[in-house]
Amino acid sequence: MLLNPEPLISAERIAARVAELAAQIRADYAGRRPLLLGVLKGAAFFTADLARALEMDVDLEFVRARSYVGSRSGGDVSVSRMDDLKIAGRHVLLIEDIVDTGRTLSLLCGRLLDCEPASLALCTLLDKPGRREVPVRVDYAGFEIENQFVVGYGLDYEERYRHLPGVHLLEVDEG
Ligand code: IMP
Repeated sequence: MLLNPEPLISAERIAARVAELAAQIRADYAGRRPLLLGVLKGAAFFTADLARALEMDVDLEFVRARSYVGSRSGGDVSVSRMDDLKIAGRHVLLIEDIVDTGRTLSLLCGRLLDCEPASLALCTLLDKPGRREVPVRVDYAGFEIENQFVVGYGLDYEERYRHLPGVHLLEVDEG
C-alpha cells in the first residue's frame, strides 16, 4: 500500500469544516450540555478539535471500537470502555472518524440506546455512503468520500499514519 503524499483533504480544509460543524452543533444544542463521546482511536483528533471549536459547556468521554484488520472490515466489532459511562438522561453526541459499512456505529448506537440517553446523535468526519451495509443515521458529516481507503488525522492502516495532519489516500501498490 502506498501513501499518496498529496492530501485528499488538507489540514486547513479539515479545520474550516470542523468550525462549520461546531457552529451547527452549538446552535442545535443551545441551552444543553451534550456528552461528546469519541470513538477511539480514529476519532481522537477530530473529537479534540471539535470539542475546542464548540466553545460551549460539554462533557467528554471515549469508547473504544475495533472492526478493521488492515484495510478490510473484519466484520466482528468489539467495543470496550463502555462500563463506566453514565449515559442515562444525557444528550449524547457520538463522534466517529469514518462511517464505512455502518456496522460499528449500528452496534455502538444499539448499546448506547440500551442505556436510555435523552437523545443520541452522530457526528462523523468522513462518510463513505457507497459502502453502507447497515443503515445508520448520520446527523453531522464533515466530508463524503468515494470507496477509497484513507489515512491520517487519526485514521490508520495497521496503526500507521494516524499522526498526519491531513487525510490521504492509501493506494494499492501495483509494482
Ligand atoms: P464500519 O463499521 O465498516 O462502518 O467501519 C468503521 C471503522 O472502520 C472506522 O471507525 C474506522 O476505524 C475503520 N475504517 C473504515 N474505513 C476506513 C478507511 O478508509 N481508513 C481507515 N479506517 C477505516
